[in-house]
This record gives sequence, structure tokens and C-alpha cells, in this order.
Amino acid sequence: MSDCLKDAPIGVFDSGFGGLTVVREIMRQIPNEKIIYFGDTARVPYGSKSKETVTRFSRQIAHFLQTQNVKTIVVACNTASAYALDELEKEIDIPIIGVVKPGAKVAADVTKNGKVGVIATSATIGSEIYTTYIKQLKSEVSVTGKACPLFVPLVEEGLLEDPVTDEIASRYLLELIDIDIDTLILGCTHYPLIRNTIQRVMGDKVTLVNPAYETARELKLLLEEKGLLQDKKPDLGENRYQFYVSDGAEKFKTFANSILKYGILSAKTIHIEDY
Ligand code: DGL
Repeated sequence: MSDCLKDAPIGVFDSGFGGLTVVREIMRQIPNEKIIYFGDTARVPYGSKSKETVTRFSRQIAHFLQTQNVKTIVVACNTASAYALDELEKEIDIPIIGVVKPGAKVAADVTKNGKVGVIATSATIGSEIYTTYIKQLKSEVSVTGKACPLFVPLVEEGLLEDPVTDEIASRYLLELIDIDIDTLILGCTHYPLIRNTIQRVMGDKVTLVNPAYETARELKLLLEEKGLLQDKKPDLGENRYQFYVSDGAEKFKTFANSILKYGILSAKTIHIEDY
């Protein structure tokens, strides 16, 4: 495999900020890689939109990332993974992975009592994609989904540890506590950022599955398998991470700097409808 291909960046996209939880895991687990991130901040949220719309948006973003010569694409958004990944896989000739399958796989492995909960956007829950994948792996597992639409705005408002978030989490999660699940998938990019609150409400006996972590692991395996994993350390001072958004680059930069250790040098706004 040519070093040139290995040296190409990984393209990651999300509907907005949330996919940075996936970027954070990629940076931790495969630190030699370059990343080009696109957050669709002008058109977020995807979680309340139709499959057709989310697929159209995802296709435009995949085209943009391909113009940046990425070697692979990570669909960091659960909603886009649920709605658009199948289509993108058919249309794109570079490896592409989403966050849903890796999360579903771990949940199926981890559950002992066979009762798994999934929390996500209304779109992801409505698609029943987590249920489908888990059942393909272990048909006896029962999967209960719960849409938690207020979690995204709470995270974006920075209310990560706040009585309002506690109250809303308690209401949303009550029905999952009542049915005695032992595993809960954080099926939306933003939810790992309120992981502590969710764990507190669910109690220590429930294992939280973070698809972002599992996706980074699978991405590493995929790159190894395809001979695309970058084994060379980056050059000193090299700017390995580039961020693009469809609106509000400054706000994005502030949010990104609050969740990534790496100082974001810049975020550029592009007109994604052109792709
Ligand atoms: N990124 C989305 C997801 O993981 C959450 C935000 C949105 O609704 O666009 O499903």
C-alpha cells in the first residue's frame, strides 16, 4: 500500500458539534491519523428530519469529503448512520463506517440479562436500526428504544451538570429503569457528554455503551485490514486536524475547544449545498 494513501486524512461528519465525541476517540485511539471533520451546523438537527432529507445532506457531505481526498469516511452521526449509510455504501468507493453497528455489537456482547435499552433521537429510535442489528447478532435480546430529544439542546447549551438535565434525564429514563435493562446504548453523538448524569440516574448496575469508543476501535481495525493505518508519527507542528462547518465557525470552535484537548486552530465555513 502506498504511503501516500496511508497519509491521507480520515473524513468524519456529523450534523453539527456532536460528532466531536467520535473525533475525540479517534484522536485517542489512532493518534497518528489526520482528520477532516465536517459539522452541518446550518442544517442541524438531523434527528427530527426525514430519511430522504438526511440522505441528501449526507450525500453532499460525502462528496465534499471526497474532494478533500480522504481515505475513509466515518459517519459520526447516529441519525445519518441509521438513515443514509446503506445508500452511501452503494455510491462511494472508499471504506465507510457508521456508529450504529459498532455500538450494537458491544451491547449484544455486554448484556447478561438480555435486556438492552437505546436512547437516541426520534429518527434513530423510529428507524429501529439498533434493534435490527442487535437481533441479527442475538435474536433473544429484547431492545427498548427511548427518544430523548431534549438532551441535544441541553448539551449544546452547556448544561452538562445541571439540575434541569438531571430532572429531564430522570423522566426520560424512568421507563428503562422500570423494565430492568442492564445495558444502555448512548445512541446519539451528544449523550456521552452527559454520561455522568445518565449513569447516576440509571445506577451502577447498568453498563453504558458509547458507540463513539467502539467506532474508533473498529475504524482502527478497518484501516489495518485495508493497509491504510498510518504508522508514521506526525511531523512536529503539523496541523493534523481540519474542521469545516456549514455555519457559525466561531461558535463551533469554542464548543470544539471545550471538548477536545487539542487546540482547534480554525474552523472554516463552506457552502455545502454546492457539493
Ligand atoms: N448527531 C445526531 C445523532 O447522533 C444528534 C443531533 C441531531 O439531531 O442532528 O443522532
